[in-house]
Amino acid sequence: MTAAYPAEPWRIKMVEPIRTTTRAERESALRAAAYNPCLLRAEDVYIDLFTDSGTNAMSDRQWSAMFRGDESYCGASSFYRLRDTVRAYYGYEHVIPVHQGRGAENILSRCLIRPGHRIPGNMYFTTTRAHQELNGGTFHDVIVDEAHNPADESPFKGNVDITKLTALIREAGADTIPYVCVGAPVNMAGGQPISMECLARVRELTLRHGIKVILDAARAVENAYFVKSREPGWSGRSIAGILRAMCDLTDGATMSAKKDSFANIGGWLGLRDDRLAEQARGLVVLYEGMHTYGGMAGRDMEAVAQGIVESVQEDSIRARIEQVGYLGRRLIDADVPVVRPIGGHAVCLDAHAILPHVPQPLFPAQTLLAELYLHGGIRGVERGIVSAGRDPVTGENRTPALELVRLAIPRRVYTRAHLDAVADAVIALHHARRSIEHGLRFTYEPPHLRFFQARYEQAAIA
Ligand code: F0G
Repeated sequence: MTAAYPAEPWRIKMVEPIRTTTRAERESALRAAAYNPCLLRAEDVYIDLFTDSGTNAMSDRQWSAMFRGDESYCGASSFYRLRDTVRAYYGYEHVIPVHQGRGAENILSRCLIRPGHRIPGNMYFTTTRAHQELNGGTFHDVIVDEAHNPADESPFKGNVDITKLTALIREAGADTIPYVCVGAPVNMAGGQPISMECLARVRELTLRHGIKVILDAARAVENAYFVKSREPGWSGRSIAGILRAMCDLTDGATMSAKKDSFANIGGWLGLRDDRLAEQARGLVVLYEGMHTYGGMAGRDMEAVAQGIVESVQEDSIRARIEQVGYLGRRLIDADVPVVRPIGGHAVCLDAHAILPHVPQPLFPAQTLLAELYLHGGIRGVERGIVSAGRDPVTGENRTPALELVRLAIPRRVYTRAHLDAVADAVIALHHARRSIEHGLRFTYEPPHLRFFQARYEQAAIA
């Protein structure tokens, strides 16, 4: 008998119909989508766990706040509400709105990265690394080794390996490293958190070398929850207090408000340095919009501001993390190989372990993903060799140790019964795994972020 998670601190006021499909309908939809569930029409998906980004249910407070959206081009009151809320909860003096997280990554990368620069980070994220590379930088993974092992149970598998970071600084020289990019938690490792102790050590080391620390704050509230529940000395602190303590150890943050902040769109770049902020505001007018809306409507900024306030509520974040944990526990109890411990935003299936007979060049995670859709109408996303892309210098495929199907849980959207339907489908597919006797190969491979738009055909295993 698996434990339940706490009852949600909300009730449902509006519903959106979803539909089940037949196996024959799914086969035809998947063929039309060239075996890439990203290319399916959403209406052909029963339970959509593609992402927790922008797919959240907003609260009645957020919808109400949208009505007071000030749509002035310059100096809208909604901007000041957003700026003041970010200042209050995240503590960054300068708040530059953007349409979503990658908008902030673009602006920051253009400001700070020059050809030949190196950007260390605790594992890559797809869009983040793409912007680093577009500006001539190279990404260097300095995450702890445990992060690459799905079965390792360490509580902070998102930690930076200080020895690796020290060696990179010594070898490359501090002047080639504009900043360290810290994900908290680490999406590509399965939502694994970084400890406060580790973040403080990163801060101390980089301060000595004059290197900035930039937080990827998309799910920082989830990280705060793990700090509170796992790290000695932090259980008595509030989530809001821990979030602020994390940000206090950094020079700035890129933020996708589509995650923690329950918004369907939006983001911001938070900075402390006056000159850097001026430079960033100069670029935001080129790429996003005026520096007091940055690609968001006034109403979007209102939704984000209210969402931030809700995101740090203790019962809200607890229900969120424990719901994800519930799905994870059901799969672990049925011996389905998943990334452990269960992360903040997703349960990740270990495709190497489930389909050991499908070699990595035939995309085992993408294959499993397609089969899961056929099996249960469930959509996840590939987080393996396809997402890792090619090395921009050699043109070779990168071959990550983690070959995962990520099932990301949107916030406040699905009930426990939905998660049980997901668990039942995954468990049934796991039992039938030996009947999967093929892999996939590209029929079209896009140059950037290829997992989104790639097309495939089935490929026999040699
Ligand atoms: N950083 C992290 C850690 C993310 O997970 C994402 C988006 C971004 C930055 C970029 O933000 O989408 O607002 O431009 N992650 C989504 C996902 C797409 O499904 O993991 P964005």
